[in-house]
Amino acid sequence: MSPAARRGLVFLAIAAGLLVGVLASEIWRRSGDGSSSLAQALSPSPTIGGPFALVDQNGRTRTSAEFRGKLMLVYFGYTYCPDVCPTELQTMSAALDLLGEGAREVVPIFITVDPERDTPEQLKLYAESFHPSLVALTGAPDRIGEAARAYKVYVSKGKATGDDYLVDHSSYLFLMGRDGRYAQHFLPNATPEAIVAAIKAKL
Ligand code: NI
Repeated sequence: MSPAARRGLVFLAIAAGLLVGVLASEIWRRSGDGSSSLAQALSPSPTIGGPFALVDQNGRTRTSAEFRGKLMLVYFGYTYCPDVCPTELQTMSAALDLLGEGAREVVPIFITVDPERDTPEQLKLYAESFHPSLVALTGAPDRIGEAARAYKVYVSKGKATGDDYLVDHSSYLFLMGRDGRYAQHFLPNATPEAIVAAIKAKL
């Protein structure tokens, strides 16, 4: 091997070492704040989210395309949910109130995972008890299923006794950018203040 080739190899080895170091610190940094997983740190463009066309609490069709240019806060749940959903929607509403004027740049969206019971009328009653700007969406079960899969939301309907059943579902609040792409997500223990801080960084 010529001295030039040897120098080239040494340079490559150093460059590879630097790259590994940068990746490792990035993984550490991202996993440290609890808002992002190792898998996402390794993947610079996580494929969470996607287009949807659903029906809101006023019976109007709403598509993801109409929210481009604004940030979206997206949460999947259902109105009969006994505990996690109401708590999360309260947190979301509190964050919007804390944002003040900035809330105009954010569309809060609730997508039901229980379209059989969550009709537009049912969603309207439910949304009213949270935030006036909340867009509550339902639709045909296959459309809802597509949206849930796009957001990697786990949904499992429990044993039903007539119309009485629970729906097990993952409880992430997604912050989507103005381009409709995933920005980050929050776990159920996230405070309104933490959500506001993340949104403000994007305003
Ligand atoms: Ni729930």
